[in-house]
Amino acid sequence: MRVSVVTGCHGGMGRSICATLKAAGDHVIGIDHPDTSAGSDGPDRFLPCDLSDLGAVAELLPQFDRDEPVGCLVNCAGLYERKAIFDLSLDDFDRVLAVNLRAPFLLSQRVARRMAKVGQGAIVNIASINGKLGSPMVPYGASKAGLIGLTKSLAKTLAPYGIRVNAIAPGTIRTPMAEGVDPVQMERQMYNVPMDRWGEPEEIASVVAFLASDASSYMTGAVVDVAGGWMS
Ligand SMILES: NC(=O)c1ccc[n+]([C@@H]2O[C@H](COP(=O)([O-])OP(=O)(O)OC[C@H]3O[C@@H](n4cnc5c(N)ncnc54)[C@H](O)[C@@H]3O)[C@@H](O)[C@H]2O)c1
Repeated sequence: MRVSVVTGCHGGMGRSICATLKAAGDHVIGIDHPDTSAGSDGPDRFLPCDLSDLGAVAELLPQFDRDEPVGCLVNCAGLYERKAIFDLSLDDFDRVLAVNLRAPFLLSQRVARRMAKVGQGAIVNIASINGKLGSPMVPYGASKAGLIGLTKSLAKTLAPYGIRVNAIAPGTIRTPMAEGVDPVQMERQMYNVPMDRWGEPEEIASVVAFLASDASSYMTGAVVDVAGGWMS
């Protein structure tokens, strides 16, 4: 049975990704902040970790050397900081970058070591169209652009080891994160969406399942927009 690891497993998209990978037959290990809890679609096993805390991440990583090798990693945990540009502190910037970019790098590097030994593996990063377009939430836009760069760079370096690395760039998806966005900004955003509706978490999870499976065996370094036509 393939072992999959999903970060942000208790979030709107994370729950759906866990449920979809479990339905495909994977044993799913979920990671999320210790203050969160599972709903009905929890992972098979939960590892609490504050991904903004480098010490906590360092304690978590050796776990992946001991247990069954990971076949699939989905970096889904993410957060934003809403403060306007002149109110942002360095701590605000660092916290967003730590969760959205540093943690995916550290986790990918760790699980890829053992994927390389077996000669196969899939990593899927949940970026955002804000990584391509920029965002009024500056650290968020910068972190997601970085995650797209990380995806392409890892794809290049890990391809010789049989490891594929792809990203999804979601538009607006119905989760607690999108529900927290300023309604005026949201209305402006929707103006750009030809399908004229939000996406559902299941519409991301199905693409994750595809990118994590052999059905996408010739894809690596791709950034797949799942955004109702926003980028068309
Ligand atoms: N919802 C959208 O419209 C949308 C659009 C584009 C991209 N995304 C991205 O999709 C991913 C999933 O977001 P979502 O929409 O499900 O939002 P969500 O807020 O429901 O889920 C985010 C998850 O990340 C976890 N997380 C945040 N900080 C953490 C930390 N310090 N340590 C560990 N876990 C932490 C949260 O606990 C939560 O479970 C994120 O990376 C987000 O940036 C979302």
